[in-house]
Amino acid sequence: MTFDEIRAWLVEANPEKLERLWLSADSLRHDTVGDEVYLRGLVEISNICRRNCLYCGIRAGNPKPQRYRMSAEEMVETARLAKKLGYGTVVLQSGEDGSVSAEEIAEIIRQIKRKTNLAVTLSLGERAEEDYITWFKAGANRYLLRFETSNETLYRAIHPPHAQGRYRSGSRIELLKTLRNIGYEIGSGVMAGIPGQTWDDLARDIALFAELDLDMIGCGPFLPHPDTPLGGVRSQESGVEEQVILDKHLPFKVIALARLVCPAANIPTTTAIATLDPVHGRLLGLSRGANVVMPNLTPACYRKMYEIYPHKAASGETPEETHELAVRQILELGRTPGQGAGTSPRFLKNATQI
Ligand code: 5AD
Repeated sequence: MTFDEIRAWLVEANPEKLERLWLSADSLRHDTVGDEVYLRGLVEISNICRRNCLYCGIRAGNPKPQRYRMSAEEMVETARLAKKLGYGTVVLQSGEDGSVSAEEIAEIIRQIKRKTNLAVTLSLGERAEEDYITWFKAGANRYLLRFETSNETLYRAIHPPHAQGRYRSGSRIELLKTLRNIGYEIGSGVMAGIPGQTWDDLARDIALFAELDLDMIGCGPFLPHPDTPLGGVRSQESGVEEQVILDKHLPFKVIALARLVCPAANIPTTTAIATLDPVHGRLLGLSRGANVVMPNLTPACYRKMYEIYPHKAASGETPEETHELAVRQILELGRTPGQGAGTSPRFLKNATQI
């Protein structure tokens, strides 16, 4: 798919044509990754963050959220719960918590592996390369790091670097390549509708998914958080010509196009999409190219504190409820909950070639 084709789909408004886009993404999804929908148990292990990303509710500069870090025991217990509920993967996600050492995380990974043998996905932000190596050696399998936007100027404007940060803003794309070389399955993605993001930018983002040959692609709409510098900026008023405008189709266009450019990737229907449309969002994502759901298994007492954007969809009070709803929705669509780790076919193919 060419850049021009991607861009044309992003601005397409004709409902019949869009129906064709949804159908071709769905049928490609069926042919490449099948009808199984993989469940990844998401655990938000800490909302402590040293960064000040202009859009994010848990940025260091926001004094409002009460800060927490789950204990090692709580993390391992939640992984055991994921295992009990039938999950093949646990995702440990946090703010960029610089006060937790690489070794502490490595020990938790080892315990989770020993006690559950689940696939472990990490989403802990930018760290030193040695840390990523330590975690991979401890048994971590996958790393998620969204590059958020491929427009370097916009990236820098919304991601002030940390004073002692090892990685400077703008280098996440290089970092993803490093993570792949270490041996991780790599996942990335962007937000759609960031103030200052143009249609060309978003089309380039999607073309970059293919260039990076991602194993996993997670995307969602930008949702303004009132306690952040971008909270009061309506995208329509960014003053940028060709500004990406968020409408009800946009998140699904991004999912469908991600599927078309990376046919064998694992693509979640994300929480941000479910937040934008709590009734249909998740199901529409799964019908338009996605094959993964990431139910939130974070213990109820911490959930509200992990408010990266407002009204984040919880879809159930307890981890068990959240899980049951996800399974019900998958079955409603005539699909089946995936068994096992759900490693990306792209990764498996490359692994057997080596
Ligand atoms: N709106 C939408 N997505 C957000 N994220 C962070 N803040 C927001 C927001 N205000 C996304 C980022 C990050 C992921 C974990 O959540 O893309 O990578």
